[in-house]
Amino acid sequence: MRIERCRNIDDFRNLAKRRLPGPIFHYIDGAADDEITRRRNTDAYDQCDLVPNVLAGLNGVDLSTTVMGQKLAMPLFCAPTALQRLFHHDGERAVARAAEKFGTMFGISSLGTVSIEEIGAAIKTPKMFQLYFHKDRGLTNSMIDRCLAANFDCMALTVDTITGGNRERDLRTGFTSPPRLTLNSLVSFALHPAWAFNYFTHEKFDLPQLNTHVQEGSSISVSVSDYFSNMLDPTMSWKDAEDVRKRWGRPFCLKGVMSVEDAKRAVDIGANAIMVSNHGGRQLDGSRSPFDQLAEIVDAVGDKIDVICDGGITRGTHVLKALAVGAKACSGGRLYLYALAAAGQAGVEKALSNLRTEIERDMMLMGCSNVSELTRDKLRWRK
Ligand code: LAC
Repeated sequence: MRIERCRNIDDFRNLAKRRLPGPIFHYIDGAADDEITRRRNTDAYDQCDLVPNVLAGLNGVDLSTTVMGQKLAMPLFCAPTALQRLFHHDGERAVARAAEKFGTMFGISSLGTVSIEEIGAAIKTPKMFQLYFHKDRGLTNSMIDRCLAANFDCMALTVDTITGGNRERDLRTGFTSPPRLTLNSLVSFALHPAWAFNYFTHEKFDLPQLNTHVQEGSSISVSVSDYFSNMLDPTMSWKDAEDVRKRWGRPFCLKGVMSVEDAKRAVDIGANAIMVSNHGGRQLDGSRSPFDQLAEIVDAVGDKIDVICDGGITRGTHVLKALAVGAKACSGGRLYLYALAAAGQAGVEKALSNLRTEIERDMMLMGCSNVSELTRDKLRWRK
């Protein structure tokens, strides 16, 4: 199948699976333990149904939303994800440019493979940086300062990774960053020559936000789970989160909040937003899905803070349901990563285009001319 024929996330996933060496595909696709939470993240949206209004006399549909003070042309953005140049040689450059074309936010990770400075200069649309709180405070602070200098718009402190998830697919395949050149990995590269050619003939793999302070992940191969367990600071506390917010001083969000109690504390420390997220099911399997938790969190803090629903989205209607419950915006990782792996920037553009078309069509069919008209009375919950 060609990228133009991809109609849904599964189509991109199939292409990615064909193009990527097995360990890399399974790193993206996999999750923790039995991957129950990963599946639930998507299934949860089927728990309720949309109730449309007709004859609304629509004169166009406005998909824009404002989150953390950033105006986005569509209510779905590219959540930060790691290691993108492993998936396609253009990596974050491709995703950033595609997001810019769609006027939506691009999130870049501490474990990104293109530098904060390059992304800061490359695009004009809103940029988020995903901060991992390292034991090495000098490293953590250096990333905050670099984002300030590069004029990033918002920062998401990730709070659900103080130890690595049990990602059994990665254990099975031996996936590491950078990829270890073992007999097995060399065989999987040989079986995917187009990927291997691009990987080995482009700029050397690197983690430019980290390599000023640590070599793990850049030139010393580690699994992502071990990286979390060994390099990130498990003592991270509310006080630390507040200190990060103060040093940063710009729109700030906590990524990975799942409970009402924590959502309230996020308000207390002055966060502007929370990303309700379980890290794509990659950390605590058996934890609830963002959509299942959304209503109680919105009820508790939705008037004080922007609530973002992150995870499991594969359809425009999923976005509509989350907005109807009260999210300001939605975000996702795999929804663009498969497309990145399949075809670089053109792939990400196609994935975003498909989703935007779906959101627009679905809003028309709901009789809504803008996202604020998506309210809870347009949903019914199944028993
Ligand atoms: C993950 C991190 C790096 O692999 O976001 O889940």
